[in-house]
Amino acid sequence: MKLNFFINVWSLMFLFIFCASKLEARRYVTWNDFKINFPNIDISNGNLRKSHGIIVVDSRGYGDSVTVQGAIDMVPEFNSQRIKILVLPGVYREKVFIPSSKPFVSLIGDENHPRRTIITGNSKACDKDQYGNEIGTVATATVTVESDYFCATGITFENTVAAMRQENDKQGVALRLAGDKAMLYKVRILGSQDTLYDDKGSHYFFKCYIQGTVDFICGNARSLFQSCELHSIAPDNVGISGAIAAHERESPYDDTGFSFVNCKVTGSGSVFLGRAWGEYSRIIYSKCYFDAIIHPQGWSDWDVPSRQEEKVHIPASKPFISLVGDQNQTTRTIISGHDKASDTDQYGSILGTSRTATLTVESDYFCATGITIENTIIPDPKGVGMQGVALRLNGDRSVLYRVRILGSQDTLLDDAGSHYFYQCYIQGSVDFICGNARSLYKNCTLHSIAKGYGAIAAQHRDTEDQDTGFSFVNCKIKGSGRVFLGRAWGEYSRIIYSKCDFDPIIDPKGWTDWNQPSRRQHTVFGEYQCRGSGANRAGRVTWSKTLNQSEAEPFLDVKFIEGQQWLRL
Ligand SMILES: *[C@@H]1O[C@H](CO)[C@@H](O)[C@H](O)[C@H]1NC(C)=O
Ligand SMILES: *[C@@H]1O[C@H](CO)[C@@H](O)[C@H](O)[C@H]1NC(C)=O
Ligand SMILES: *[C@@H]1O[C@H](CO)[C@@H](O)[C@H](O)[C@H]1NC(C)=O
Repeated sequence: MKLNFFINVWSLMFLFIFCASKLEARRYVTWNDFKINFPNIDISNGNLRKSHGIIVVDSRGYGDSVTVQGAIDMVPEFNSQRIKILVLPGVYREKVFIPSSKPFVSLIGDENHPRRTIITGNSKACDKDQYGNEIGTVATATVTVESDYFCATGITFENTVAAMRQENDKQGVALRLAGDKAMLYKVRILGSQDTLYDDKGSHYFFKCYIQGTVDFICGNARSLFQSCELHSIAPDNVGISGAIAAHERESPYDDTGFSFVNCKVTGSGSVFLGRAWGEYSRIIYSKCYFDAIIHPQGWSDWDVPSRQEEKVHIPASKPFISLVGDQNQTTRTIISGHDKASDTDQYGSILGTSRTATLTVESDYFCATGITIENTIIPDPKGVGMQGVALRLNGDRSVLYRVRILGSQDTLLDDAGSHYFYQCYIQGSVDFICGNARSLYKNCTLHSIAKGYGAIAAQHRDTEDQDTGFSFVNCKIKGSGRVFLGRAWGEYSRIIYSKCDFDPIIDPKGWTDWNQPSRRQHTVFGEYQCRGSGANRAGRVTWSKTLNQSEAEPFLDVKFIEGQQWLRL
């Protein structure tokens, strides 16, 4: 019995070690992945090649394959070890596709002579497939890489289609990278429009040469281009004739972007450094050298003005203004800014929270619908002065209906006046609805993006005779983190939640006194008929209240904001 047991354990362990060694993949890239260790290898000796784990491509027929795709087809599916494909000098006229099931592939030419090994194609977006439909940009790629840990060196990737000005659908991709963790070293990527479709994943381009006319580095990858040459072949003397990069980032929370460091921009034409393909396009050039081909404006918003940032100020002298977007497409119209409290103005003074607002309304009878107002600052959790207001409402008698207000700390500075928010969406992390207004929030979604602790509301009522406060009715609270329902910014802070639905992100204590214990006697922090897994009041601070019907009554409808005087909805 005992012996058997040991045998079993050992055979299991052996099996485990065996499997682990077989399956374990090296999850990083080293310089060795770009080298064939036996440069004098006799390519006619198949056994020798196999023992060195390489596949040789030779257009003359002396290798394992005459095409690059033929070599890719020899790579086993779901391989876990690096497979090096030596591509000998020649012109390979073919389309190459590396599927996601074939990671750890290196395409290796002579790193000192990348011009000698060329993979070339000439598909353009307006070409037709077998059913007569246009193939589109993605399908034009001469080489497509969908697998992870791809490496290439010493090779030219090319698409020979020339994009003409005033002609559409001439996109022709030379290389499309859609796998994660690729590195390209001393590679040339040649084309005209959309040459390098750097689609997704994290990629490192080192000492590469990339040529094109329009958006010749495009996509939504997170890529570092170091010591590369970006060469424009856009026409001269015809006005703006091209653009280097077009990045497609769509949200401030995406970590994608193109960073060019120590690169050299050369060539012809008058080109933009970048175009905002996506709403949050991110392109940075650092320590680069630019030839005199950059259009003085530098950047383009892709003719979508919302991609520009703008601060809007409606002064007290301009009442009765409605900002109207499409109520069913609130996300399509965005007023966007990214100031934070610690930023300085043109005179060098600190902005402070209230001056960060993307949209400031100081006038009365303001209405808004169908728009998004945002402040895209993402606070550094350890930083100070990270408040970034999206909307500051300072006038009296405003109605916001189907408006999205996005930010992180102090998103909505609901400063002063009586306001009605109906079916709005308000996002933030800390005190994201704050101020000393008297406001009713009905059927709104309050979305926390807090990573750790956060707070929804911080109300600033200072004296007993102020009629201000925040009343949330029929609201839905969801998102992340562990948030307080409210914080006592003022001595008499007043915040009521009625008939709201709380996700389990509410801190059981519910409320905080802003580290001012005196405020516990004066705050009005109440909950009435709330539901959901965050609504259990068993752990709440004792100085908050469960309201009964008659106590909740004054806060439940527009009477709270004296709506009978100014609302006829
Ligand atoms: C929004 O959608 C509703 C229902 O689909 C429709 O009745 C209404 O006309 C739409 N409103 C706008 C401004 O398009
Ligand atoms: C407002 O919210 C309540 C409770 O969730 C719901 O019953 C009601 O239908 C909502 N009204 C509108 C117009 O969304
Ligand atoms: C509600 O509470 C108040 C104060 O605590 C009390 O005076 C009142 O009788 C209560 N009303 C009902 C209907 O329970």
